[in-house]
Amino acid sequence: MKRILEPELMLDERQVRAYAEADFEIPHQDFINRLSTWVNEPGFSGTALDLGCGPGDISFRFAKAFPLSKLHAVDGSQPMLNIAQAALIPDLATRLHFIQGLLPTVILPQSDYEIIFSNSVLHHLPDPQALWQTIKNYAIPGTRIIIMDLLRPANLAVAQKMVQDYTANEPDILQRDFYHSLLAAFSIEEISTQLAQADLQLQVEQISDRHVFITGVIR
Ligand SMILES: C[S@@+](CC[C@H](N)C(=O)[O-])C[C@H]1O[C@@H](n2cnc3c(N)ncnc32)[C@H](O)[C@@H]1O
Repeated sequence: MKRILEPELMLDERQVRAYAEADFEIPHQDFINRLSTWVNEPGFSGTALDLGCGPGDISFRFAKAFPLSKLHAVDGSQPMLNIAQAALIPDLATRLHFIQGLLPTVILPQSDYEIIFSNSVLHHLPDPQALWQTIKNYAIPGTRIIIMDLLRPANLAVAQKMVQDYTANEPDILQRDFYHSLLAAFSIEEISTQLAQADLQLQVEQISDRHVFITGVIR
């Protein structure tokens, strides 16, 4: 099945509210647990970068998991960032900064980061090199990269069954978004080709029927 693009930025207020109110406890904590296991440094005190942070649920979980860290979290959607900013308690505001900007042209406050991560953003990008080039722009030797995203199912029927299996109890707007995201996602082979084109040596692992986990250290 060919990839079918979905809108790149999540700008629609209803869509943004539904996404921000959805219960992502299990998948988002799973992402942070995998990231923490892979990084294996609970005392990490450097600065990390979250690419396409949306309403910030994963950014907040990262800040909690790494209490000595600083985090810059970027998104192109101001409605998403308004929700993230509203949830930013003063205690965290000294070390968690939300930034409006578009991959790959965003200009960030630091020239490089020690950890760069991203969840569920790659499939939004018409040109996937926007993610890989942003990583290259802000990584130096030793930067750790952790990316998770959806994988495109073999056909529409499999995508429809996944929507039933995993989002049947969610509002219609979330079910529709999940379906469109599945159709916009890449295959493992496509991601491997993108990484080769970007000259990034990262490991690509399928971790469920619908998720890919990409990790590595920049050399
Ligand atoms: C599905 S959400 C994921 C949000 C968050 N990472 C999470 O896991 O909850 C995808 C986000 O990527 C953002 N996005 C898409 N393309 C982008 C780009 N080129 N630059 C910056 N943000 C982008 C969208 O606005 C949206 O907030």
